[in-house]
Amino acid sequence: MSKDTIWDRFLKPLFSTFLLNKEQIEQTQKAIDWEGETQKLKDPSISYPQYYKSQNFHGIAGGYLTSAAAVTYDPITQFVLPPSETIVRQALLDKIVGYPKKIIDLGCGTGSGTLALKKLFPDSQVMGIDLSPYMLALARYKAKEQHLIIDWRHGIAESTTLANNSVNLVTISLLFHELPTKIIKSVLDEVFRLLTPGGQVLILDGNQKVINRASWLANIFEEPYIKEYAQGNLDSWLVSVGFGEIKTDDIWLIHQITRAVKPG
Ligand SMILES: C[S@@+](CC[C@H](N)C(=O)[O-])C[C@H]1O[C@@H](n2cnc3c(N)ncnc32)[C@H](O)[C@@H]1O
Repeated sequence: MSKDTIWDRFLKPLFSTFLLNKEQIEQTQKAIDWEGETQKLKDPSISYPQYYKSQNFHGIAGGYLTSAAAVTYDPITQFVLPPSETIVRQALLDKIVGYPKKIIDLGCGTGSGTLALKKLFPDSQVMGIDLSPYMLALARYKAKEQHLIIDWRHGIAESTTLANNSVNLVTISLLFHELPTKIIKSVLDEVFRLLTPGGQVLILDGNQKVINRASWLANIFEEPYIKEYAQGNLDSWLVSVGFGEIKTDDIWLIHQITRAVKPG
C-alpha cells in the first residue's frame, strides 16, 4: 500500500483528529452484532474478485471487508461530496423519470442512496446489492431504524444472477471510480441485461473530465482505479453497450450524473 497519498499524509490525520465524531462511530460499532449480521447476509457462493479484495480502499486495511470501513463510511462521505451529500444525492433523485416499480441500487454500500430511493418511491420494490456484508449490515441497520423495507443482497454488480428484463431503474453511486475499466463495462452489460426495455440507469460519480485534468484530485484518497476511470468516457461506454438517450451533466464541478435508457 502506498503511504504517499494526500489522504495518508494529511487528510486521514485531519479526519481522525478533528472531523469525525468518534463517539458516534463507536456507538454504531457497538449497535451491530457484526459477526451474526454478516453471517446472515453472506452468500457463500460469492468469491471476492481480485480487484476488490487486493485493495485497501480509502486506506483502510482489509478494504470494504471490515466493520471499520462500514462505520467510518458515512461520517467521511458527508465531507467528500461538496457542497453537501444531501444536495448531491438529491441531484440524482431529481433525474429519475416516472415512478419505477422495481429498483436496484448497485454497490449500495451503507445504503444512504438506497434509503432515499425507498422514501421517494414507497410503493416500489427496492433492492440494494453490495459485495461487502459489513456495508450491508450497516445499511440494514439504518433501514430498520427508519422502518423501511428494502431487500439487501450480498452480490456482485457485474453478475447479479437476477432475471433478464426485470428492473425499471438501476442506480449506481460512487462505484465506478473504484473499478477497473473492464469491470465497469461488465457492470454496464449486466445493467442492460437487467433493465426492462425503456428502463433507465442513473450513475453518480466523480467528474471524469475534471479529475482527468486535475490529477491531484485523483491522488486525494486511496482510490486505486480512479485515474483509469477519469481517463475514460462513461457516455461512450454506455453507447458501446447499446444504451440510448445518454446524457451526462456536471454537478457542482467535481461530480457527474449520467442518465441512459435501454431502448424499448
Ligand atoms: C464508495 S462505496 C459507494 C456506496 C454507495 N453507493 C454510496 O453512494 O454511498 C462503493 C461500494 O461499492 C461496493 N462494491 C465495489 N465493487 C463492487 C462490485 N463489483 N459489486 C458490488 N459492490 C461492489 C463496495 O463494497 C462499496 O460498498
